[in-house]
Amino acid sequence: MTGLAAVASSLSLGAESGGAADGTPEQIHLTFGDDPARCVFVSWVSPAQAIKPRVLLGGKSAETVVHAVQRAYTDGLNGQTVFTYHAKLQGLDAGSRYRYSVTADNDRNRATPFSATFQTAPRGRVPFRWTSYGDLSTPVGSWLLSSPQSRFAVQAVERFEPLFHLLNGDLCYANLNHAAQPAVWADFGRNVQVSAANRPWMPCPGNHEIEFGNGALGFDSYLTRYSLPSNGTSFAGLWYRFQVGSALFISLSADDVIYQDSGAFVAGPEELRPAPSTGNAAIAPGTSLYIRGYSRGAQTRWLEQTLAGAAKDESIDWIIVQMHQDALSSSKNGNGSDRGIREAWLPLFDRYGVDLVLCGHDHDYERSWPVRGCNHDVGRDAVTGGAVDTCQPRPVVTAEPPDGKFDASLGTIHLILGGGGTSAPLDVYGVNARSGLPEAKVITKPNRPAPGPDPGIFVKPGADAREDAIWSARRDTQTGYGIGVFDLDPGERHGKTTVTLRYYHAIGADRTPTANYELFDSLTLTKDRRDGK
Ligand SMILES: [Fe+2]
Ligand SMILES: [Fe+2]
Repeated sequence: MTGLAAVASSLSLGAESGGAADGTPEQIHLTFGDDPARCVFVSWVSPAQAIKPRVLLGGKSAETVVHAVQRAYTDGLNGQTVFTYHAKLQGLDAGSRYRYSVTADNDRNRATPFSATFQTAPRGRVPFRWTSYGDLSTPVGSWLLSSPQSRFAVQAVERFEPLFHLLNGDLCYANLNHAAQPAVWADFGRNVQVSAANRPWMPCPGNHEIEFGNGALGFDSYLTRYSLPSNGTSFAGLWYRFQVGSALFISLSADDVIYQDSGAFVAGPEELRPAPSTGNAAIAPGTSLYIRGYSRGAQTRWLEQTLAGAAKDESIDWIIVQMHQDALSSSKNGNGSDRGIREAWLPLFDRYGVDLVLCGHDHDYERSWPVRGCNHDVGRDAVTGGAVDTCQPRPVVTAEPPDGKFDASLGTIHLILGGGGTSAPLDVYGVNARSGLPEAKVITKPNRPAPGPDPGIFVKPGADAREDAIWSARRDTQTGYGIGVFDLDPGERHGKTTVTLRYYHAIGADRTPTANYELFDSLTLTKDRRDGK
């Protein structure tokens, strides 16, 4: 524990300790641009404004200097200004490794600036690996929902050496630590740098990225820190797509379509008072930042256009979606499933044959059977037991294939990978008391805050409905922590292509943080290559 404590305290230094003109880069992380074979962003934060922030990109002959763009925001709760920098490295060669360093004129380490290497995405039908989890938090135990396991989770990504990592929302839970949101982000950024400086980490926003005081949607901190592929709408950075090899990756912002209210919230009885320097008014108990419908359909229209485009593009064999919240989760003590995603997006996933949906939100591991379509009016009201339409997804296969291979053309498999590294593993699942079979909570309407039993304290009602989780294939009851590792094999022309999932879980991490991730589940999806027709 002494070692952990020492690490934790060193992580807490930084932004506040740098002095007035400290432009030393920290929290360095990479993301792909629109074309991952040719464009990578290097992003970072410095304690104070950087002078001539830049990346030195190692080339075959000389070093190229790429100047960084500054994006800053002032936290709406504690008034701290955060300076972020983004260098866009363009015109790179596909499938190539580059060395880079990050510096500024007022970099304390200017003599030996931070440097690392990364690899661009390959072109064409070539094998590659990606990894995914959500709900990471920070290793600094004084922050709400943080846990030392988040350090091991970042190390796990490095151990599996993916081309890139999908971080599927709830990055650091800064919004639970009202007085110190930027400091929580800083501890998250320093921890993640161990991997994200070496390979792109592609995030999607989760409910805990929604912060009071930081923009109309609460995403200003998230959006300031990340440079992401474009989506051609006025909601830059919240959803995007990119293609690697023969796989199209689509990252969505499910807060736009879910019914549940899980953004920033003041429970009471005290009001939340922002620092006077912000000029922001106190926020009354019972206030929540509920943003369902924020894009007024723009995201769903973009998703449909993107999927329709993919259907015509024979270079795309696979469609992988990441989002934070869950359409198919039977967690008992987590959130459960949300009918909003089932209504807005599952019909599109069906129509265009999305292969995998990677989510977090519930801090556990669950895998669905391949699903297509839904059954109506088979849910039950959580209180009265009366019939409720939960749009229960319909499994098309309900047994593990003898050879472990699923025909991906039959249905979409949903995975809950919410076991990054929070202090709240939720690996308990619903069971129908009468049948003994899996049961899911389903949220079918907004659960806005209401006065609770204690005077002045507001609560949000839990899920309003239940259904038999006939779509649930596998649930990890041993631990809530793990990482999904995915290997794409393009196969041969006129033949099959496969994606193999291996889920490794951190046995014992629910009690004691551990670096040991062991194989828990594996399966292979297979389909015809589209260039063979
Ligand atoms: Fe979470
Ligand atoms: Fe969440």
